[in-house]
Amino acid sequence: MRLIMLGAPGAGKGTQAKKLSDKYNIPKISTGDILREAVQQGTELGIKARTFMDSGQLVPDDVVIGIVEDRLKWDDCRNGWILDGFPRTLQQAYALDRMLERIKMSVDYVFNLEVDEDEIIKRLSGRRSCESCQTAYHIHFNLPKKKGICNSCGGRLIQRSDDREETVSERLKVYKERTEPLINYYMEQGLLKKIDSNEDINKIFEKICSYM
Ligand code: AP5
Ligand code: MG
Ligand code: ZN
Repeated sequence: MRLIMLGAPGAGKGTQAKKLSDKYNIPKISTGDILREAVQQGTELGIKARTFMDSGQLVPDDVVIGIVEDRLKWDDCRNGWILDGFPRTLQQAYALDRMLERIKMSVDYVFNLEVDEDEIIKRLSGRRSCESCQTAYHIHFNLPKKKGICNSCGGRLIQRSDDREETVSERLKVYKERTEPLINYYMEQGLLKKIDSNEDINKIFEKICSYM
């Protein structure tokens, strides 16, 4: 199964991708997670990506396309994958199509998580993420079992630096300009499934799973 999660910042792409990854035993590939890890480790990639991320801008296409191209070659991708946060521009979508053409594979579904903007703001402002494995929690909607501690790995929960108010509005603007056109792109290919995501996490998950 090869899936793409589309949706605005804070729509719940990562949350649903993690649940799908656990249920279907296929990797969740999040370009945001990969980039944040690189920033944390201070690698060359991280140093390059940081200023873009902290200002709510997209990291240049050639950089993220390279990341995904490498990652899709890993052994664990043989039975499928879930892309979370990629593609995010038409150039990235074209690049993905070319990669898949080369290995004679195709995408099964593109899930577009639709969430109202006021709900998005609530989700982002209350998000806390695990410092080690990046699992997302929420101070009201998705509490960890133990306060401040990740259920999956015991890591510390922190607020992402790009979840500050000014950065959030920039991310939403960039989303509308650069990423929203992908909705049409995938609709025209008959791959898009719209998921009304103004609901609780498990309801959304059920809706997504009903397509598999
Ligand atoms: P990235 O990490 O991908 O951020 P994003 O797209 O802005 O999306 P988020 O991770 O903020 O939201 P999400 O949809 O995953 O929501 P989540 O499940 O956490 O990218 C960050 C940056 O990296 C970009 O700005 C860019 O600079 C760079 N980058 C990454 N990919 C790139 C690319 N392809 N090209 C160029 N640059 C790239 O949920 C949010 C919160 O809501 C959580 O607290 C969660 O617990 C809660 N929640 C989830 N679902 C529900 C629900 N149903 N009800 C209530 N609360 C919920
Ligand atoms: Mg995410
Ligand atoms: Zn963790």
